[in-house]
This record gives sequence, C-alpha cells and structure tokens, in this order.
Amino acid sequence: MSVDENGSRLPGFFRLMLEERQRILEEKLGLSREEVQRLAEGLSLEEADLLIENVVGVFSLPLGLAPNFLIDGQEFFVPLAIEEPSVVAGASHAAKLVREGGGFQTEATSPVMLGQIQVLGLPDLEQAKFRLMANKPRLLAEANRLHPTIVTRGGGAVDLEAKIIPSSQIGPMLLVILHYDVRDSMGANAVNTVLEHLAPQIEEITGGEINLRILSNLAEERLVRAKCSVSFSALENREWSGEEVARRIVAAQALAEEDPYRAATHNKGILNGVDAVALATGNDWRSIEAAAHAYAARSGRYQPLSTWEISDQNLVGSLEIPMPVGTVGGATSAHPTARIALKILGVNSSTELGQVMGAVGLATNLAALKALATEGIQKGHMRLHARSVALGAGTPPKLVEEIASRMVLEGNIRPSRAKELLKEQKFAERRTKNNN
Ligand code: MEV
Repeated sequence: MSVDENGSRLPGFFRLMLEERQRILEEKLGLSREEVQRLAEGLSLEEADLLIENVVGVFSLPLGLAPNFLIDGQEFFVPLAIEEPSVVAGASHAAKLVREGGGFQTEATSPVMLGQIQVLGLPDLEQAKFRLMANKPRLLAEANRLHPTIVTRGGGAVDLEAKIIPSSQIGPMLLVILHYDVRDSMGANAVNTVLEHLAPQIEEITGGEINLRILSNLAEERLVRAKCSVSFSALENREWSGEEVARRIVAAQALAEEDPYRAATHNKGILNGVDAVALATGNDWRSIEAAAHAYAARSGRYQPLSTWEISDQNLVGSLEIPMPVGTVGGATSAHPTARIALKILGVNSSTELGQVMGAVGLATNLAALKALATEGIQKGHMRLHARSVALGAGTPPKLVEEIASRMVLEGNIRPSRAKELLKEQKFAERRTKNNN
C-alpha cells in the first residue's frame, strides 16, 4: 500500500462519519468504488453456498480499520473483523504510542508446519524407526513430488522424524513427524495431502497399521517475534506519571507469569488483535488459537506469550507466538472481503502477514494492560458497550446513538433500560406526529 507523507496516520479518523471513512478508503488507500462497496456488502449468499455445507445465511461482523501501524519501518493500515468494542480503538491508540518510539520490530522463522502420522501394531518399534530413517531421503523426495509449485517457491518437505511412544492406554506406537515449509499458504491442505500420500509407503516400510494422518496445530516452528518500546513520557496522563503506568503494567506482567488464570486473560488480549486480523483476511483463527495456547503451555505451565519490562525510561514489550496464517488458498482467496483486506494490508507473503499480526497482538495487549493498569477498561468501553446493548434490545440503528448516550449519562446500561427508553422515544414520536 503506497502512503502519503502522513504514513499510516489518519488523525481524527474515528470522529468521521461512516461515508467519510469510506471515502478515505478510496482516496488514501487506493481502493476502487466497487471494492469499498464490496466491503460493505461482504460475502454473498451464493458465494457462501460454495464455501461450506448446508448454507442457510451469511453471518456478518463489523470490519474496522486501525491506522498508525509502523512495523519494521513500513506503514500499515490494519483491517480488523471483530464484534468487541474497544479493540480497534485500543490497537490504533497503542500503535500511535509505539510509532513515537520508532514502531514495531518483528522477525519470523520460515513457514514450517508439522504433520503427524500415527503407526500402530508394531512389534519392534526401534527397528521400524530404523527402517523409516533409512528411507527418509526417498520419502522426502516423494513428499516434494506432490506440490511442485511450493517447491519451486523455495518450500516443501524439510525433515522427517520418527518418535517412539513407548506406552499409552492402547500400548506402544510410532509417531512419524513431517516438517514441511508451506510458503504462503496456511498449509493444512498441503501438509494433509502429503501425509495421506506418504501413509501407504510408511505402512509398507514399517509393517505397521496407519491410523491418524493430520497436521499438528502446535506450529512451534512457524513463529513470529514482535518488539516495541514506549517512552515513559508517551504513557503519562492527567492522573498518572508515565513511570507509574509502566510500573503498573510490569506488575500486571508479573501476575500473568505467576498465575495461569491471569495469563489466559493476558493472552486473550493479544489474541483479540491477532484473531481480528485473521478473520478479516479469511484465515483460520481456531488454528491460531490452538497454536497460541498450546505454545503458551509448552513448558508444562501456562505462561503469557508476551513480556513487558522497564528499560532506560521505556516500557519494552515483546511477543513470541506461532503464526499459522496464509495469504493464498482457502478463504483468503475465496472470500471477497478477505481479498480486499489483504490489499489494504499490502503484505507480500504469509510471513509478512504473520509479522503484522504479531505487532497487532502486541498492540492490543499493550492497550488492554495500559487501560487495566490505570482507569480500568470499563470507562472507555461504556459508550460502545451501550450501543451494542441498545442494538441488542431491538433499537433501530438510527436511534441507537441517542438511546446509548442516555444510558451512559444515567450510568444504567441494561437491555431493560434500553427497551424502556425506546418505548418512551416511540411514544414521543407518536405524540409529535399526532400534534402535527
Ligand atoms: C478483553 O477482551 C481483553 C482483556 O481482558 C485483556 C486483558 O485483561 O489483558 C482486557
């Protein structure tokens, strides 16, 4: 995405009317009128019917745009699909703080996914393992015959291992593990196809009985690392000095490291941003969630995926997270909104997308911790929360803002109150009509 001298800054974006924001998509982000229209319409029923079985409708979510992201010296506008208020605002706010300190720095490993083949009924596991390893070059070559395009792009089978599981409730078994560089796809289809193709040969080599042949979602070889630094001065507000805010965030970090109940919520704050980009770009967010939580528990104790510490008058955050995402194939290519979201991001590879998602996760983590360590999250949340309560209570969209404002003023944000206010409003409208 080419950007002007403001980079990815869009001062006052949140104050604009919806139509004005849409105009910016055309004027600043270079989307065509049709693409802007498509973002508003989303997936058609006919398209949905081609994606899954038994389609009876289309489920929509809001798509927001978070400006301000400076990642590895490049500017990004980040599309986020999410129903939860405050996440988009939090991401933009944190990205603005971070850009003052030079932006996010990220790095990623090669996009290597793991696949597993379970082999049962082996009387001599050591010998089966030995025979498998003797055939490894042939099996890897066989795996690479299947997806020549991935291989041409520098990916393909990287390694094959065999692990003996000496005992289980059904006795011993052998696990064959394929390490496969999937390049720009998420990789589940590519890996599963290879595993199913290799299974009969592995059966023949080992003399065992093949059971499972499936991708592992613990994508521990496909990692993204993101870092950022925010100066004390950027953190201060009317009530708290920047140093106090930073110290309270580090105290929140300390709790997350000691207590898995807090660590789970800490990680949820990271995944708020990561999942929202995953959804917007048509990626499988369940796979990201499975990978993130399994990775967080890899030491045997569930841990926060990010760390926050103080260094030289700065709050420094870093995140390490598995990132099984793609920019080609599946819904990333088939879903019209996902295609446009990827165009807005302007990323060139799945690895780059993962790096942006890592930065976004660190941003939503920072926004949540900053709010929690100071005024709490409810204050900023209330107006948006009131809107969704009003909408959920059956308020027509044109009246939502008014009913929500009254509930916020009264400090009484409940569906029952929204219904009462709506009744009053309708009554007042009828009376005005009758008087005219
Ligand atoms: C809410 O969606 C996410 C938070 O609970 C994250 C956190 O507590 O760090 C605010």
